[in-house]
Amino acid sequence: MTANQTILRELPADLKRDRLPRHVAVIMDGNGRWAKKQGLPRIMGHRRGVDALKDILRCCKDWGIGALTAYAFSTENWGRPLEEVDFLMTLFERVLRQELKEMMEENVQIQFVGNLDALPRSLQNEIRSSMEETRNNKGIQFRVATNYGGRQEILQACKTIATKVQQGLLQPEDIDESVFAHHLYTAGTCDPDLLIRTSGEMRISNFLLWQVAYAEIYVTDTLWPDFDRTEFHHALAAYQQRDRRFGKVNQ
Ligand code: FPP
Repeated sequence: MTANQTILRELPADLKRDRLPRHVAVIMDGNGRWAKKQGLPRIMGHRRGVDALKDILRCCKDWGIGALTAYAFSTENWGRPLEEVDFLMTLFERVLRQELKEMMEENVQIQFVGNLDALPRSLQNEIRSSMEETRNNKGIQFRVATNYGGRQEILQACKTIATKVQQGLLQPEDIDESVFAHHLYTAGTCDPDLLIRTSGEMRISNFLLWQVAYAEIYVTDTLWPDFDRTEFHHALAAYQQRDRRFGKVNQ
């Protein structure tokens, strides 16, 4: 660990604690390009991506950010080469098994968001037990979007709500933003204040479409495996410069 990283265990002095985002969402892009640049197979980029994610999760906790959501696997990612998909599924499972003890020690509450039924059975089991074991942890909410698609999430919420209306459990006039949000995978977590995307692409890529309505977006050219505390510090500093008006005007 460098001296700079040691210092960054504490919230950097230029950041205002009372203006930190409550929830940060990350699109961890660039693992494949990072690996290619090093002359390594793409899967090595995903391995290093896990290390980067672990450090950013710990950093959020150290600096007092209450929730982190990471886009690990989209509904579109099934279209990747079979070996890469298999590698990712095995990686998720292994990471969960290896990290559970530390998540308990660090008081992390992990939850997976997405259509989990389509994942390999052994991964589903690992997901279920990690969510169950960590459910009462209060240190930080860690959300992992896996087989996640924003449009698919909205559709499943609509279908559940329509069924409730059909069964007379809900009246159409009672459906408001809060009722709708309650039917999303992310129910119980506040909307992200800051959305970070690495590797330079200016896209949302079907991530948290409803939830990022008023999020500040920060895009960096840095590839995800290189996204460290210093980079995160830059993102938070940029966020704190933003004038968040939520559609209103400043008096
Ligand atoms: C995008 O880079 C990255 C992914 C699709 C996978 C991200 C997954 C992890 C970092 C593992 C997380 C694990 C757990 C258990 C939370 P890319 O492959 O699209 O990169 P490229 O655009 O350079 O090809």
